[in-house]
Amino acid sequence: MPEPSRPELPRHIGIIMDGNGRWARSRHLPRAAGHRAGVATIRPVMEACNEAGVHILTLYAFSTENWSRPRHEVAALMQLFGETIDSEVDEMHAEGIQIRAIGDRSKLSDRLQRKVRAAEDLTSGNTRAILNVAINYGGRSEIVAAVRDLAARGCDLAALDNDTLAGALYTAGLPDPDLIVRTAGEMRISNFMLWQAAYAEIYITETLWPDFDAHAIEGALAAYARRDRRFGAVRVEAALPAPASL
Ligand code: IPE
Ligand code: IPE
Ligand code: MG
Repeated sequence: MPEPSRPELPRHIGIIMDGNGRWARSRHLPRAAGHRAGVATIRPVMEACNEAGVHILTLYAFSTENWSRPRHEVAALMQLFGETIDSEVDEMHAEGIQIRAIGDRSKLSDRLQRKVRAAEDLTSGNTRAILNVAINYGGRSEIVAAVRDLAARGCDLAALDNDTLAGALYTAGLPDPDLIVRTAGEMRISNFMLWQAAYAEIYITETLWPDFDAHAIEGALAAYARRDRRFGAVRVEAALPAPASL
């Protein structure tokens, strides 16, 4: 996987794609129309990331809590996920993108699980970029599933360390997201990549996901480049003793 070409670029971006419902409401359209409009945002944003030199993207498409939405909205979303795989995967494959689904896929219909698996199998050898799609994903469930998996494999949980746990998450082997973008203005993480986001920079924009575009992701990248990431340390100049005259 190519590294980002400049150090001020994130290696991995996570996006909480929020605001489809508000986008639809402002147009007096059903919420499903907002979700459909949101799908159209994915390709241009992914292309802009690739062009900028960011090759790992994780998109939050459906949370473990989103099942509590009205049944018809959940059904519309599941239908849309299947249709989107059908319409997008061949082109993504041609562009060298590796597609992975993260989350508990066992709750998806057999048909959707088969589509997801086929998309993963088709694109598994691609190395230009990785697209993780978080479907029935929750950060808490991910951690619980990882611990259960380790226990089932006979791991000594009393000796569990960070690297072992990280290696049992859906994102095993990928760098943590350096940047998490949330559209539509809510100031929360909504159970997204709880473990992996430990030191992610957070960028929140009022723009609704269907209105987000290549220009908007460039804005997020520019903001990221201005951030001072300290990881709990102090900057070198701040660590120097104060001048004697002060
Ligand atoms: C995000 O848009 C998409 C999903 C959660 C599936 P929303 O549907 O949450 O849109 P708002 O927040 O109601 O505007
Ligand atoms: C987060 O958005 C989940 C996804 C984008 C898939 P929500 O709209 O579900 O989050 P809350 O309910 O506002 O926290
Ligand atoms: Mg929302």
